[in-house]
Amino acid sequence: MRKILGILAVAIVSAAITGGSIWYIYEDKYVFSTSYEIKLWWENWTDQFEERIVLAEQQPKGNPYKKPYVFNDDNDWFTHKLPSWQVALQDLVGKPGLNYLEVGVYEGRSVLWMLENVLTDPTSTVTGIDIFYEMDGRYSESLKQRYLSNIELAGAADRTMTVVGWSQEKLRELPLYNYDIVYVDASHRAPQVLEDLILVHRLLKVGGILILDDYRHWMHRPPMTRPKAAADTFMEFYANQYEILHIDYQVILRKLEPDSI
Ligand SMILES: C[S@@+](CC[C@H](N)C(=O)[O-])C[C@H]1O[C@@H](n2cnc3c(N)ncnc32)[C@H](O)[C@@H]1O
Repeated sequence: MRKILGILAVAIVSAAITGGSIWYIYEDKYVFSTSYEIKLWWENWTDQFEERIVLAEQQPKGNPYKKPYVFNDDNDWFTHKLPSWQVALQDLVGKPGLNYLEVGVYEGRSVLWMLENVLTDPTSTVTGIDIFYEMDGRYSESLKQRYLSNIELAGAADRTMTVVGWSQEKLRELPLYNYDIVYVDASHRAPQVLEDLILVHRLLKVGGILILDDYRHWMHRPPMTRPKAAADTFMEFYANQYEILHIDYQVILRKLEPDSI
């Protein structure tokens, strides 16, 4: 009886504080919607704070770009990841005829670094797919133009193809077994990430490198809202075909075996 009264008291106090009246079921636990959102917000904030400290420590000093590209400094999701890219891609630097596919280009930080450091031979190409959504979740023409003018400034407009649209649809239109390096950095929701990974798998050549971002992002959030579960599923299903080169905040894999039909 005391226990029931206790639960009732907690529920009434929570309802009074949060104004919540809707019960959610999350991972077999009942939680108040608003208090759950506050809990998520707090965990996410502390998570991102820790994530930023770890990533800032890995950030190379100085500006890694040769040209004055236009970027929003708040949205640098790339330069702290450079050390692992430099190691994984060192054998490809300057090779002719490389085809690079990036899923989720935003302003082009990673594409431009690739152009300046790996795809330096004029026969190498870039294909970038993006819906060009800003942080508010809406299409932004100015974001698209910023990406295109950065590519222009790099002098690579004639060897860069930009596909505007949802990766889950557009990846199906690209040539099979054509790409030497693929970077998946678009949607962060596990079902979409899994679909992207499965679709790019057959676009990648044998010997090609597959990079997935944000493997350890948002670790307190529900699994379906972040990439890790998708990456784990992909690595389990395709374990025989890939070698793991790096697994930390990003996952870097090399495709070893041709695909069976
Ligand atoms: C984190 S940003 C990419 C950052 C970029 N790779 C870099 O290193 O600077 C993610 C991008 O993916 C795009 N995006 C998100 N979901 C997408 C989807 N399903 N299809 C295509 N693009 C998507 C967004 O518009 C955004 O520009």
